[in-house]
Amino acid sequence: MKKIFITRRIPEVAIKMLKNHFQLRINEKGRQLTKKEIIKKTKDVDAILSLLNDRIDKDVMDASRNLKVIANYAVGYDNIDITEATRRNITVTNTPDVLTETTADLAWALLFATARRIPDGDKIMRRKKFKGWQPTLLLGYDIHGKTLGIVGSGRIGTAVALRSRGFNMRVLYFSRSKNILMEKQLKAKKVTLTKLLAESDFISLHLPLTKKTYHLIGAKEIALMRKTAIMINTSRGSVVDEKTLANALKKKQIAGAGLDVYEKEPAVNKTLLSLNNVVLTPHIGSASHETREKMAQMSAQSIIDVLEGKTPEHIVV
Ligand code: GLV
Ligand code: GLV
Repeated sequence: MKKIFITRRIPEVAIKMLKNHFQLRINEKGRQLTKKEIIKKTKDVDAILSLLNDRIDKDVMDASRNLKVIANYAVGYDNIDITEATRRNITVTNTPDVLTETTADLAWALLFATARRIPDGDKIMRRKKFKGWQPTLLLGYDIHGKTLGIVGSGRIGTAVALRSRGFNMRVLYFSRSKNILMEKQLKAKKVTLTKLLAESDFISLHLPLTKKTYHLIGAKEIALMRKTAIMINTSRGSVVDEKTLANALKKKQIAGAGLDVYEKEPAVNKTLLSLNNVVLTPHIGSASHETREKMAQMSAQSIIDVLEGKTPEHIVV
């Protein structure tokens, strides 16, 4: 019987799909495993169902001699050494599409929360600090009629852009290729990153983390942004130079940021934690009941397909 290691409890639907055909081993520790622990558990397995915070690199692959498939329970796969997987003929799969709309919802939730200072308002209420209506209490920024800049117009970037219709926004995007859907439906304009950063009121990041996108947003890019700009990041923390962003927010170089991802998760830059022009969420872009179920199903199906000699739907390599 082929063996599968699941690095963390995921929705039961995946377990049900896999347990009849394969021998399952699941990390029941209720925490992320260290690399050493992953290596120990995967020595004899045919498949690993991994999370985005499990590093699956050369060392893991060297130790796991029978490994045929790594099914990442995420759309991003910067945690997996793709070159090493390719070299060994290991199939890597991810979970795109099913989480696109859910992640786009969260990007907007952060945009709303940051622009209209929802967490600050909530704090005032809970601390019983609400003294009645005030002319200048918690002034934020309008969203409607403003310019939205989408950095990376893939599936998620497009879904975020399409949601702006209800707010009558001008949409700019930065991308390698032309996005016909966005241009047709939103009259969105493809522009340089420089122009996007300079002209957008809201900047939302939707690029995968690669060598090219690492610290794409640093001091020089932040300096291009408007003083009233709000930046949203639901992609990967390292697309932004987090320390530089934190200092820029502290100095009010830009107005605010809504962040779901961080450079050294679970650690967060201390300055960010102390600022009230920042809204922080704990990497929950795809965290809806419905979507996590679908991701579980998709990951399990990918493993079944590869181990039964079929081509899975979403192959990375
Ligand atoms: C979440 O960040 C994912 O890549 O699925
Ligand atoms: C990822 O799913 C993307 O293409 O945005």
